Amino acid sequence: MKIFSRIAGTGRALPGEAVTNAQLAERLAAAGVETSDAWIRERTGIAQRYIAADDIASSDLAAQAARAALEMAGMAANEIELIIVATSTPDMIFPSTACLVQKKLGITSDCPAFDVQAVCSGFVYGLATADLYIASGKVKSALVIGAETFSRIMDWNDRGTCVLFGDGAGAVVLKADATPGILGHRLHARGEHENILRTAGTVVSGVARGHPFLTMDGQAVFKLAVQVLDSVAREVAHEAGMAVSDIDWLIPHQANVRILQATAKRLGISEDRVIVTVDQHANTSAASVPLALDVGVRDGRIQPGHTVMMQGVGGGFTWGAVLARF
Ligand code: ACO
Repeated sequence: MKIFSRIAGTGRALPGEAVTNAQLAERLAAAGVETSDAWIRERTGIAQRYIAADDIASSDLAAQAARAALEMAGMAANEIELIIVATSTPDMIFPSTACLVQKKLGITSDCPAFDVQAVCSGFVYGLATADLYIASGKVKSALVIGAETFSRIMDWNDRGTCVLFGDGAGAVVLKADATPGILGHRLHARGEHENILRTAGTVVSGVARGHPFLTMDGQAVFKLAVQVLDSVAREVAHEAGMAVSDIDWLIPHQANVRILQATAKRLGISEDRVIVTVDQHANTSAASVPLALDVGVRDGRIQPGHTVMMQGVGGGFTWGAVLARF
């Protein structure tokens, strides 16, 4: 009998209180960096973001989101057979954030746990990987988490990037099922474009080497993002034997409201079928898609039987999409 995977639970975690554009502008002004609520809203659609306190790590947010997803799925943490955490802001170089989450959740089953590094595409990379593990019969359940503390890799003197990002985590529990579930997925990368979005630093002999802050060619990213979000949605819908117009909900990576609008327009999907959280969370990289998914599930927009196209795009350059039926 063919095995499929199905999303059985979702969860999210956002640290502390929201920081509005006006509050951020005030903090930046104190450091001589000029921005405004009007500029940020007009160019990006962002109204606020969450910024983790110094003592909160990506694994804390990941574990909190995972607990909520497990509760919705009605599962105990120890029943999980695979943990994948997508992050570009791990707690440390190693162990992986997934191993730290396993510890924080008290999982003692020795299940495999590893991180996926595909920047803003990380969650869809992780979800596609977990689906293949389940479909192969290797495991019957998986936790897939996107968790980030991007505030730690911001250059707070660069107003072109520091207003765009936020911290947070989203999680899903995937379970084996006799019916799909995950209907299809495609992942892509083109390393040739590695220089348009990067954090080009590392640690050498105990000292940061290179530039350990995010840099971006915003216009190049914008153009490529809209192109590949369009093409990958069509590929995955085709693989699943569906027309893009039949998809109930579109959840593109939440980078910028203008990217979301342009993608929906190209795909012929009306804006009321796009789940948008970038206004509330800003760009949380690998956490953005599962955060938006959890919002859509918990506010009742995503109903059993609905199809949801989740799309990632980001540094690498990487992109991909997963189509799921709820
Ligand atoms: N506040 C006020 N002014 C600003 C700010 C700011 N925060 N940032 C830049 N500016 C100024 C610039 O200095 C420039 O001023 P100048 O004309 O006097 O030189 C002016 O605004 C225009 O700057 P641009 O960078 O050309 O602005 P642009 O219209 O391209 O918007 C943005 C920048 C929003 C980043 C846009 O390029 C974009 O949406 N790119 C998509 C990339 C994206 O969303 N990346 C997120 C991460 S990537 C990902 O997740 C896949």
